[in-house]
Amino acid sequence: MPNAVIVGTQWGDEGKAKVIDYLSRTCDIVIRFHGGANAGHTVMADGRKFIFHLVPSGIMYPEKICVVSNGVVLDIEQFLKEIDELTEKQISVKGRLFVSDLAHLVLPYHKLQDTASESAMGSAKIGTTGRGIGPAYADKASRTGLRVGDLLEWDSFAEKFRKNCEAKRLLLAANKQPFELDVDESLKQYRSMRDRILPFITDTSDLLYSAAQRGKSLLFEGAQGTFLDIDHGTYPFVTSSNTVSGAACTGAGVGPAQINHVVGIVKAYTTRVGNGPFPTEQVNATGEHIRVKGGEFGATTGRARRCGWFDSVLLRRSVQLNGLTRLALTKLDVLSDLDEIKICTQYEIGGKLVDVFPTSLRQVEQAVPRYESFPGWKSDLSSCRTLSDLPANALRYVKRLQELCYGVPLLLVSLGPDRLQTMEVEPLN
Ligand code: GDP
Ligand code: IMO
Ligand code: MG
Repeated sequence: MPNAVIVGTQWGDEGKAKVIDYLSRTCDIVIRFHGGANAGHTVMADGRKFIFHLVPSGIMYPEKICVVSNGVVLDIEQFLKEIDELTEKQISVKGRLFVSDLAHLVLPYHKLQDTASESAMGSAKIGTTGRGIGPAYADKASRTGLRVGDLLEWDSFAEKFRKNCEAKRLLLAANKQPFELDVDESLKQYRSMRDRILPFITDTSDLLYSAAQRGKSLLFEGAQGTFLDIDHGTYPFVTSSNTVSGAACTGAGVGPAQINHVVGIVKAYTTRVGNGPFPTEQVNATGEHIRVKGGEFGATTGRARRCGWFDSVLLRRSVQLNGLTRLALTKLDVLSDLDEIKICTQYEIGGKLVDVFPTSLRQVEQAVPRYESFPGWKSDLSSCRTLSDLPANALRYVKRLQELCYGVPLLLVSLGPDRLQTMEVEPLN
C-alpha cells in the first residue's frame, strides 16, 4: 500500500479509526502524529469494541508495528491503561509498539491548568476535553515542557518536575485557583510508571525512515478534525495542535515526499463537540434523530455531540488545506430513516454568497447556510456491497456530495461501525 495520511475533515469524530482499522490490513506501520488523549477513536471488530486515545488504532492486527511519534503529547497513565486493556483482551503490544523520546508529556499539573482555565472562562469556555492538551502544548512552545526522553535521567526529571510544579502553583495562585497536587506522591507514581514505559522509548523518525527504505508502508493516523486545527480551525474554539495533513511530517519526523496519499474522512452529516460556531447545526428533532441514530456521544468525555447537515463549504476548505486525494465517506447509514436530507452548498454572509469556509470567525458566526434538498432513501443499506447497490436516492446524495467537494475520488463508503461494513470504491494506488 502507498503511504497515506488519514485526517478528519470536519470537527472530529468522523470515523477515522474505523477507516484506519480497515486500511491497516494492508499497511505495515500505523503512526499517531499529534494530539493526545483528547482523541477517542472507536474500532469495532469481531463483535468487540475498542476505544483508543493514544495507542494507534492499527494495534488490533498482531503483525503491525505501531508508533506514537514526537508530535503527540503523551499522558503516560492513560497510555499504560490502554495497554493493560489490550492485554486483557489478548492483544499483545510487546515489541511492536514504540514511543518517541521527543514526545512531550502531559503531566498532572497540565490537567489542573486545563480545568482551572476553563472554569475561569465561564460561559466563554472552549469546552475542552480536560485532558491537559492546551497547557502541555503551551509548555512545549515556551520550552519548559518535559519529554518522554527526560524520563531516562530520573534525577534530572524529578528536579524539573518539582520546579514546574512550583511555577504552576504560583500561576494558579495568582488566579486564586488551588494547586491540588501532592508532588511527592505524583513523583512516586511517575517513578513506577517510568519502569514500564522505558522499553517502548525509541528514536521513531529513524525507525520510520529505515522501514520506508525497506519498502514498508506507513499509515499516519490523524486525530481531531481540520476545523479544530490551531491555525486553520475556528480559533479560539480549536485544539492546540495542527490537525491538517501537513502535520504528519513535523509530527512524525518524515519528509513530505514520503506521503503518497491524503485521505479525508468525511461524515455524511456534521457533528461538533465543545463550543464554537457550527453553521449547519440542527437544534431540533432532526439533530436529535441524527444524534441518537448515529450514537453521537463523545468517545472520550461522553458529551452529546452537536449534530447538523453536511456542509460542503467547510469541506471545500478541507480539501484545500489537506490536499485530499481521496474521500472516505462514513455513516451514510445514519441518514437512512429521514424523509428529506439537506446539503449546505453555500453561505450567505452580509448579503454575499460564499463558496469556501471563511477564515474570519465573525463571518462564520454570521453565515446563513444555503441548502439543496434531497429526498431520503428510507431503506436499509446493510446489504449494499458496491455503489450501484445503493438505492437511487442514496447514490444521488453521495454523487452530489462528492461533486461539491471538488470531485475528489471516493476511496470508500462506510455503512456501519464494523470493519466489514465497508464498501470500497477507488483503492489507493
Ligand atoms: P474518530 O474519532 O474519528 O475515530 O470517530 P469516533 O470513534 O469518535 O466516532 C465515530 C463513531 O461512529 C464510532 O462509534 C464508530 O464506531 C461509529 N462509526 C464509524 N463508521 C460508521 C458508519 O459508517 N456507520 C455507523 N453507523 N457508525 C459508524
Ligand atoms: P477525535 O480524534 C472531537 C475538541 C474539544 C474542544 C476542543 C479543544 O476523537 O476526533 P482539547 O481537549 O483538545 O483542548 O479541546 O477540541 N476535541 C475534539 N472533538 N473529536 C476529537 O478527537 C477531539 N479532540 C478535541 O471538544 O472543543
Ligand atoms: Mg473521536
